[in-house]
Formats: sequence, structure tokens, C-alpha cells
Amino acid sequence: MTIDGVVSVPGDKSISHRALMLAAVATGESRIRGILTGEDCRSTASVLRALGCPVPDITRQGELVISSGGLSAWHEPGAPLDCGNSGTTVRLMMGLLASRPFCTSVTGDESLRARPMRRITDPLQAMGATIHEHGPPDRLPVEICGGGLSTIHHDSPKASAQIKSAILLAALAGGVRVSVREPAQSRDHTERMLEAMGVSVRTGPAVAGGWEVEVDPLTTPLTPLDITVPGDPSSAAFLLALTLLARSGELVVRGVGMNTTRTGFFDALRRMGASLEILNQQLEGGEPVGDLVIRPSSLAGIEIGADEVPAMIDEIPILAVLAARAEGVTIIRGAGELRAKETDRIAALAMNLRAIGVDVEELPDGLIIEGSDRPLSGRILTFGDHRIAMAFGVLGQQQQNDIDLDDRACADVSFPGFWKLLAELSR
Ligand code: S3P
Repeated sequence: MTIDGVVSVPGDKSISHRALMLAAVATGESRIRGILTGEDCRSTASVLRALGCPVPDITRQGELVISSGGLSAWHEPGAPLDCGNSGTTVRLMMGLLASRPFCTSVTGDESLRARPMRRITDPLQAMGATIHEHGPPDRLPVEICGGGLSTIHHDSPKASAQIKSAILLAALAGGVRVSVREPAQSRDHTERMLEAMGVSVRTGPAVAGGWEVEVDPLTTPLTPLDITVPGDPSSAAFLLALTLLARSGELVVRGVGMNTTRTGFFDALRRMGASLEILNQQLEGGEPVGDLVIRPSSLAGIEIGADEVPAMIDEIPILAVLAARAEGVTIIRGAGELRAKETDRIAALAMNLRAIGVDVEELPDGLIIEGSDRPLSGRILTFGDHRIAMAFGVLGQQQQNDIDLDDRACADVSFPGFWKLLAELSR
């Protein structure tokens, strides 16, 4: 297989969700270019519409203009808010709803209803929101009744941008100061966007270790957003892997987000021996962006430890697939959070790698994968998880492999057009 081309990837999922939500919080006209049109962001858009914010169809071409009446124009929705498959939608929206003077039920699909929620609802209750669980403990659906919030300091047990962002957004909407400490810095898109909209944000290493963020209540109205969403590094990861596994060629992926809280995978690739260059780095709307140039490379196994995981949490499925094609053993540890994603990604990776002929050991918080170049074949169970589907989809493009998937459509969650692009590139 030869891979040649210059491509771009869809907009960053994390930034797209936040752009929609913050546009709905600000009063006035926000402008968003390059938004991700995938299913997860469509869930955020429809939830905001149900609350009274006129978000246009996000799949329309061109700049998205949102004219919002601001938070005070939000009203109680007529039905439970369905967040589909999207953890970011439900968790960040719970933060925003925590201060609204009405009750809202939130739910999601089967995968989302299996994911833990107390990590969000506990700190929001500590701020003053009332939350009722209408399903099993720690799970959706929940009803959130907002009210006067108070200041908290939250010591998060996990480096999770969803936890941190839910609290920061609750503070923003509730007009109170909060601080959050996390064991390591998670992605900081919320902080960057809030600052760009006029919020005072302080962030840096915490005295007690880890990372701390503090936001102050607004003293001036929130400035509407004007943003170009960078290409999603988590989506680019699949195209980089496709090229690395090819025999020849070169792929350029333009305009990819280079925020260092997201680029752990690129560093890991280099350590594995990948020929990867980053060109034309620049700041665009508060986020670093650059072009990636990748060439097929012989890879060697590496060790990934807990401190590296937050900056590559969503890329571990594709890293595991590359590890199966590297020389030697790859050990991934400290990634227990993968068990709480769209599916239990550690179990799904171990099971599927084994099913196609890879030697793999499942650890409580990671995987040990033995690389080989033997042909791999079998059927992949994706559990409806977009990143599991795309990771094995890439492996299936190698000529010597015979891999099929039970569900390809789930890739639309984060990468609309993935299969078409994969087929075009792999010709
Ligand atoms: C996200 C944060 C991460 C990531 C998810 C998106 C975000 O989750 O895995 O895909 O947009 O804040 P956690 O915060 O739970 O680690």
C-alpha cells in the first residue's frame, strides 16, 4: 500500500462542543468556523436547541453563526435531554445546568448510560445543585435542579477535562469563583476559550502537586465567540497510523491542533521510530495549530506510563494497533480510565487483538502487546465505539490482513467521512 496526499481532518471534537456551549452562554452573535459535524456535536447542538438557544443545523457548509439570548434565555426543556453517545455533552452540560433555576433530566444511549457520572454530580452537588439519580447509582438518567451555587475548591482524583470543565462552566454560569486541582494537567481548551471570552483564569502547577485552575466570576459580559476550530489531533492519529503501516509514500495532514495537552501520541510515535515532522506551527484563536508530515516507518515497542496518558488518552486504541505491528513489546500502564470510555477500551482492545492473532495481555490499567508482522485476520466487535472501529479499520487496510468490523457507522461520532477518506488514501 502506498499512501500519498495532502489532507485535512474534521474539527476538534472537544473544542467544537465547547464552542457550541459557550456560544449559547454568551449573549449576541458568535461565529464558529470548521466545527465538527459528527454525531457527538450534533447531540450538543440539539440539547442547546431544546433549552431555547437557536443553534442552526451544524452540518451546513460554511461559518456557523449562533445568535444567542444568553443564559437568561434558557428555559426548562419539555423532555429529557438526550446526549446520545457523548460524554462531553452530558458532563459539560450538567455543569451549565447546575445554576439554572429549573429542573432538567439528562440521559443518553446505552453506552453513555453505562458510564460513571458521580465524578461530575458530586462536585456540582457540593456547589449547591440538587441532583436525583433516576437510574442505577452513579449512572444516567439524572435530574439536575439548579440553584444558587457557592464557591468550592475541588480536588479531582482524575486528570479529566470533563470533570474540570463541568466545574468551571458551573462557576461561569453561576457567577461564583472555583478552583480545581487535578493530578496532572488534562486538556485545557475550556480555560483557553474562557480567557478569550474575557474570563479571568489562573492556571499552573499546584503547590500540593498536580495542576490547578481557578476562575473568577465575570465582571464584564462574556464576549461572544469568534473561533476557527483546529483539525482534531485525535482524528489525525488514524491517518498517521495508516501511513506508518504503508510500504511507501508520504502524507501531509494540514491544520491539526498542537495543544501540548493533546499531543502525547505524536511524542510516542517519535519514540517508536516514526518519521513525523511538524511544520508551520502557529497560534490560531488561542490554540496552536500545525501541519503533520508522516512517512512509512519501522516501529519499535515502547513503554507508556501514567504520566503520559492524559495527553494521549483517546489515541491509545490506535497506539495499541500500531504496537501490534511494531518490533518487540509495548507496555501501556496507568490507563485505567480507558475502562470508562464509550466502551471498556482495555477489554475491547485485548479481546479484539487476541481475536485477530496478536499476543496480548490485559492489565487492570493497561495492556502488554507483542508486535509481529504475521498476517492478522478475524472479525472485530466494536461495541459501537468509534475509536475501536477506526483503529482496527486502519489495520484492515494492510494488504496481508483480513479484518472485518461489526459496525463501521459509529465512526461518524467523531470523524464523518472516515471510511471514504481511508479508501481514497489506500488506493
Ligand atoms: C474530553 C475529555 C476526555 C476525552 C474525551 C473528551 C473533553 O475525557 O477522553 O474524549 O472534551 O473534555 P475525560 O475528561 O473523561 O478524560
